Amino acid sequence: MSAYSTSRIFVIGGTGAQGLSVISGLVADKKYAVRALSRDPQSRRAKALLALGNVSIVKGTFADEAVLREGFRGCDGAYVNLDGFNTGEKTEVYWAMRCYEIAIEEGVRFFVYGNLDYALKKAGYDSAFRTGHYDGKGRVGEWILFQNAFNQARMGAAVFTTGPYMEMAVSPMTPMTPSVEAGVVTWRVPLGAGAVPHVALEDCGHYVRWLFDHPERANGMNLEVAIEHVGYQQLAEAFARVTGHPARYIDTDLDTYWRGPLQMAAGLPAGYNADPNDKSTMSFRDNFTGFWNVWKHNIIRRDYALLDEIHPNRISSVEAWLTRADQLGREQGRGSLWERVQPENCFKSPPLLKMIEDGRSGAL
Ligand SMILES: NC(=O)c1ccc[n+]([C@@H]2O[C@H](COP(=O)([O-])OP(=O)(O)OC[C@H]3O[C@@H](n4cnc5c(N)ncnc54)[C@H](OP(=O)(O)O)[C@@H]3O)[C@@H](O)[C@H]2O)c1
Repeated sequence: MSAYSTSRIFVIGGTGAQGLSVISGLVADKKYAVRALSRDPQSRRAKALLALGNVSIVKGTFADEAVLREGFRGCDGAYVNLDGFNTGEKTEVYWAMRCYEIAIEEGVRFFVYGNLDYALKKAGYDSAFRTGHYDGKGRVGEWILFQNAFNQARMGAAVFTTGPYMEMAVSPMTPMTPSVEAGVVTWRVPLGAGAVPHVALEDCGHYVRWLFDHPERANGMNLEVAIEHVGYQQLAEAFARVTGHPARYIDTDLDTYWRGPLQMAAGLPAGYNADPNDKSTMSFRDNFTGFWNVWKHNIIRRDYALLDEIHPNRISSVEAWLTRADQLGREQGRGSLWERVQPENCFKSPPLLKMIEDGRSGAL
């Protein structure tokens, strides 16, 4: 048996879009038990986690050492996805580092960090690409792998790097929400001829499960995932084929984009509990300007051959993802994909992100 074998995993971010998929993957066959942190164990999502079985909830915030100790203690594994849209970049970096340190101290054997690309570094430290919610995670992801070279006798570690969920491109209130204009589903985003390495949430459960199941190989690994690099012309064409309804992509300059639906949020801090008077705090506009520049200029790479090896049945094209989303929605009585993106229907299902469900509010 591996020195990094785990059976009881403390999860931070478990009630979130990513956490729900990750925990489902861990407990589906009862191989792992999960202790999930939540500020509100009475929430709809916390109850949904409990209903999976083999899950318990511990109440509290990750921005509290005593809570983190209570969470890690008695667990031999950890999956940590801190919510940078709560904390803002600066606070996220601090608490992410403390999570790693406290996990070692409390005897965790294998630590998986929910990461995003270190966009600024990958773009050659050009501030046009600075994206606080990416760089805040990406810096710590590298720091964890560096620490791991020294600490792996006590605790192994892997980094799990995702990207924008594919669901975001067909959900309301996201940076890539489509509008329906004279019956045509329309994405107006500043992407040029670039592409977004969108991620299938459903596959996150498989990938994280793989990391815990193969700790010797996963130790020290940065597993960077995506469905494929999705150009939005390609997205529109695939959407039209799958739904039988017209769709288009309109490349939009950044100024026009920021005069669109996100205008109201543009000046707000990207993290809802970040201090707007702290000069380190990025606004929505600055943060998501960097974000779109990253995709427009194809800064981020993925090793799709590795993903095919780790997950042979992964969702590997946007068209396959759309087909599945259309079918699942029909089966669950939520309507076809075409019906669900219509303005009169798009708010009928609970939001994808807990943050949106909670109206961008809640304790740090
Ligand atoms: N949106 C995307 O496409 C995307 C893709 C990849 C990565 N991410 C990153 O993932 C993170 C958010 O996770 P998500 O996508 O799953 O979003 P989400 O659905 O909004 O979930 C947020 C999660 O964070 C938890 N949380 C927030 N503040 C907390 C606190 N102070 N203490 C303990 N738990 C707290 C929430 O738990 P409770 O409310 O139950 O406490 C919930 O589980 C962000 O850093 C984001 O950058 C997002």
